[in-house]
Amino acid sequence: MSGNITFTMIKPTAISKGYTGKIIDQVIRGGFRIKAMKYTRLSKKEAQRFYAVHKERPFYESLTTFMSSGPIVAAILEKQNAVQAYRDYIGATNPEEAEEGTIRKLYGTSIEANAVHGSDSDENALVESGFFFSERERY
Ligand code: CMP
Repeated sequence: MSGNITFTMIKPTAISKGYTGKIIDQVIRGGFRIKAMKYTRLSKKEAQRFYAVHKERPFYESLTTFMSSGPIVAAILEKQNAVQAYRDYIGATNPEEAEEGTIRKLYGTSIEANAVHGSDSDENALVESGFFFSERERY
């Protein structure tokens, strides 16, 4: 059975370009309920730990440098079948391949600076949520 939470981050470039409010608004309009949210910044070591599943990939070094380059917004979102629903909603990983009107198409500028992160499985949604939020920060 699929779970009802997913984890997202608004990435540094989308924040510095001033898209934070627009992205949060679009997420809410998509029927995702905000269960937890914080404005924070990852250290390089934290970014490496967060993206540890990608550590053998060629983009790991660049991705973790980028993700620790400025503040991010982290959030847990709730919806039925949340992981897949959110992945469909934000658009393809590469903004150039994302559908018109999706968050990544509108606000992403490259495969790395693709505006938002979205969990790729229920298991990772739980791990990633736990990385940022204690139980008492979830409502
Ligand atoms: P995200 O959802 O944050 O999860 C892993 C990230 O790796 C992904 O979004 C992309 O921003 C980034 N990335 C960089 N290069 C690639 C690539 N070639 N394939 C997939 N993901 C990539």
